[in-house]
Amino acid sequence: MRRTRPACASARLSHPDSTNGSHESGRSIWMGCFLGTGLGVPGLPYRFAFDTITGKRMTSAPNNEKKTWMKRVVVSGSAGFLGSHLCERLHGMGVEVIGVDNLLTGHMENLSSLIGKEGFTFLHHNVVNYLHISGEVDAVLHFASAASPPDYMDHPIQTLKVGAHGTVNMLGVAKAKGARFLMASTSEVYGDPQISPQPEEYWGHVNPIGVRSVYDEAKRYAEAACMAYHRTHGLDVRIARIFNCYGPRLRRDGRVVPAFLHQALMGNNITVFGDGTQTRSFCYVDDLIDGLLGFLHCDYVGPVNVGNPEEYTVLELAKIIVELTDSVSEVVYRDLPADDPKQRCPDISKAKSLFGWEPNVDLRDGLTTTLQWFRAEFGRELSELDQRVALQRKGQ
Ligand SMILES: NC(=O)c1ccc[n+]([C@@H]2O[C@H](COP(=O)([O-])OP(=O)(O)OC[C@H]3O[C@@H](n4cnc5c(N)ncnc54)[C@H](O)[C@@H]3O)[C@@H](O)[C@H]2O)c1
Repeated sequence: MRRTRPACASARLSHPDSTNGSHESGRSIWMGCFLGTGLGVPGLPYRFAFDTITGKRMTSAPNNEKKTWMKRVVVSGSAGFLGSHLCERLHGMGVEVIGVDNLLTGHMENLSSLIGKEGFTFLHHNVVNYLHISGEVDAVLHFASAASPPDYMDHPIQTLKVGAHGTVNMLGVAKAKGARFLMASTSEVYGDPQISPQPEEYWGHVNPIGVRSVYDEAKRYAEAACMAYHRTHGLDVRIARIFNCYGPRLRRDGRVVPAFLHQALMGNNITVFGDGTQTRSFCYVDDLIDGLLGFLHCDYVGPVNVGNPEEYTVLELAKIIVELTDSVSEVVYRDLPADDPKQRCPDISKAKSLFGWEPNVDLRDGLTTTLQWFRAEFGRELSELDQRVALQRKGQ
């Protein structure tokens, strides 16, 4: 028999299964239970808890007091940046987690806090191929996909396949288990947007044959597949459109935050593409996971934007990073890559009204924490470089 899960007051579209949980039962499970936290990040405070019925913020409580209707979940892309944070958070909430990854762009070190622990299983598997999971599953969270432009341009066919076949396979797992399905979509479905901020109703401005199209169109296909399973089979899907996220464990994979952090720490030139006036928004990973879990526990199919609506130009980001790292680096300009979006800023009014979520971590605070992780991660490389930078400074 299926386990019940709660509906939320803002329900619009619901899976037949979710009628098992009345608002009252949903409330009794959730009141005071879902907490936004600064999980594992020194210096970042616990932030909020909210009542999923009223959407009102409540007082903070420690992370380990969180409860959820989910008992067992599957997370694809679990060895990646977001997947590993998600697995850790869910495991910390007492949920049994089955992580699936083929390690295309992910690393087992990202899961070092979970490997060997009770309640966590890792499956080395390419989700483009059929996947069987035995036993009950309450939710399938599909995060497998190369995500940074250099990664998906290096693996264009794998990216198309994981967005298409991989999504359909994971939807199949959710269907077989009667589980809720959350898909990690992206702001890239808006392409190079002609309006800003981007609301979910905007259909986007995507070059279907450009170099970035393997990612953008794969995610657009994946969204279409989610809706087809929802409309045809009544599958309980959630489509989260994730905007730029940063934090510890972000590899140097070409994304702007780790690229600038590394260049600044090494005392190298900071490479800004174009004139640096293109905008991006940056959401700290703990905030993002709060938002995704809020959405997962809300009875709304989506799509819902999850990201930080504070917009910065790329040049502003470079200057903040130079300041935080006290770096001698200078900004140099390079040609803008093909189809690089000129602006990127989420309209998060839906997330706010549906599940009372908005990000809380200030960019400088989040970057400072990320910087600590970078320093620890690239310690030796950096200490050699520190000496070089110190010598450069002396020579000034
Ligand atoms: N990080 C962001 O800012 C951001 C923004 C928008 C959307 N997203 C989405 O979130 C998800 C995770 O992104 P991330 O930043 O953690 O990237 P990541 O590269 O760190 O993680 C992706 C993970 O998916 C795995 N993977 C790729 N293809 C696979 C396959 N066929 N089978 C099994 N595993 C596979 C990789 O090995 C990796 O561990 C992606 O779907 C991405 O599109 C991320």
